[in-house]
Amino acid sequence: MKPTRHLLLVLCPMVVLGFLYYSSGRLHPWGWGHKSLYDKQGFLLKLDGNLPLELMYKYGNLSEGVCKPGYAAAKMTAIYPKFTKPVPMFLDPNFRRFTKISKFFPPFGMKMQGMDLHFRSISFWMTMRNGEPLGEDTVDHYLSCKKCIIMGNGAILTNKSMGARIDEYNVIARLNEAPVSGYEKDVGSRTTMRITYPEGAIQKTERYEQDSLFVLSAFKALDFKWLRSMIFKERLHSTDGFWKSVAHHVPREPSEMRILNPYFIQEAAFRFIGLPHNKGQMGRGNIPTLGTVAITMALHNCDEVAVAGFGYDMSTPHAPLHYYEKIRMVAIKQSWTHNISREKEFLIKLVKAGVIQDLTHGICGSGC
Ligand SMILES: *[C@@H]1O[C@H](CO)[C@@H](O)[C@H](O)[C@H]1NC(C)=O
Ligand SMILES: *[C@@H]1O[C@H](CO)[C@@H](O)[C@H](O)[C@H]1NC(C)=O
Ligand SMILES: *[C@@H]1O[C@H](CO)[C@@H](O)[C@H](O)[C@H]1NC(C)=O
Repeated sequence: MKPTRHLLLVLCPMVVLGFLYYSSGRLHPWGWGHKSLYDKQGFLLKLDGNLPLELMYKYGNLSEGVCKPGYAAAKMTAIYPKFTKPVPMFLDPNFRRFTKISKFFPPFGMKMQGMDLHFRSISFWMTMRNGEPLGEDTVDHYLSCKKCIIMGNGAILTNKSMGARIDEYNVIARLNEAPVSGYEKDVGSRTTMRITYPEGAIQKTERYEQDSLFVLSAFKALDFKWLRSMIFKERLHSTDGFWKSVAHHVPREPSEMRILNPYFIQEAAFRFIGLPHNKGQMGRGNIPTLGTVAITMALHNCDEVAVAGFGYDMSTPHAPLHYYEKIRMVAIKQSWTHNISREKEFLIKLVKAGVIQDLTHGICGSGC
């Protein structure tokens, strides 16, 4: 063989390989031109509000406003095939059977010292009413098709007169201390549940509404101890470990209290948003905000999911942050725990694909 032919034999495959590498690399590394349909988190890249064919058949001819059974979960599965619906809303005394949370420390799970003791004593009381075990959970089971709304606390709610529309939802979840009284026209008057952590809980007892469930979303081990003090009406001996002052008394019977399943924090952080795993421990920028945790809960437990009062407009740093107080938008930038921009990418996917409906259009802004 002549040396030139040798050279050609070597060069040709190199050119071909080089070309393949070049063309495929632009699409998908080593993908031979096969472009993945999904992003890193596992969400469909091409999102639009259209119903997939099989869902069109199921939901297409339901009239406007009628509750669509399983709709949010079906749309979620269409854009995120890994989604599996059944995850209980609250912890019950058998929570250990739910293995997904037993291996993680708070806030992502229930692994902690003395947890057994704490949890058994409080969960017993939480499942009793007047000395009798509670029957079916009022929020969980009483309706066959549930339309839920998660109320964010954003100033975007101001002067939109959405109250009447919000009150039409079956389940109205509010977060932390967001007030109702005095703001009914904009935020509605009913509250099914109030999801909160100790630092965010209403401190003035007269401001608690009568018929709502008090739902603790625990972000640290101390939060479970706090709940225990609230249930047994014990005095809080020390506030060490809380990052600001906490409520000292929650005017609720134990049967009106629940613990939000920490799996929603785990799933929102590591699966949906893709925040740093940090060996499953709390770390910089890996805690989802309570609003996103509540939306994650609703995807698993509601047939239709709407939100209102979500979305921060960072381009107006001096605009108010919440509808009920004067703190300004700039305050949010100091957060060590949250990653607002990453989280927003996830929420935009949900809105774009029509998994959730955003009544105040704050999540996309003008962007979707
Ligand atoms: C929608 O219409 C089709 C055809 O008319 C029917 O077979 C189907 O059961 C309807 N779906 C619902 C949810 O009513
Ligand atoms: C809301 O309406 C009230 C009364 O009309 C007005 O005083 C206030 O400035 C408005 N707030 C915003 C944020 O537009
Ligand atoms: C948020 O996520 C982005 C992209 O992953 C990263 O660059 C940024 O540092 C994160 N911010 C925080 C506060 O962790």
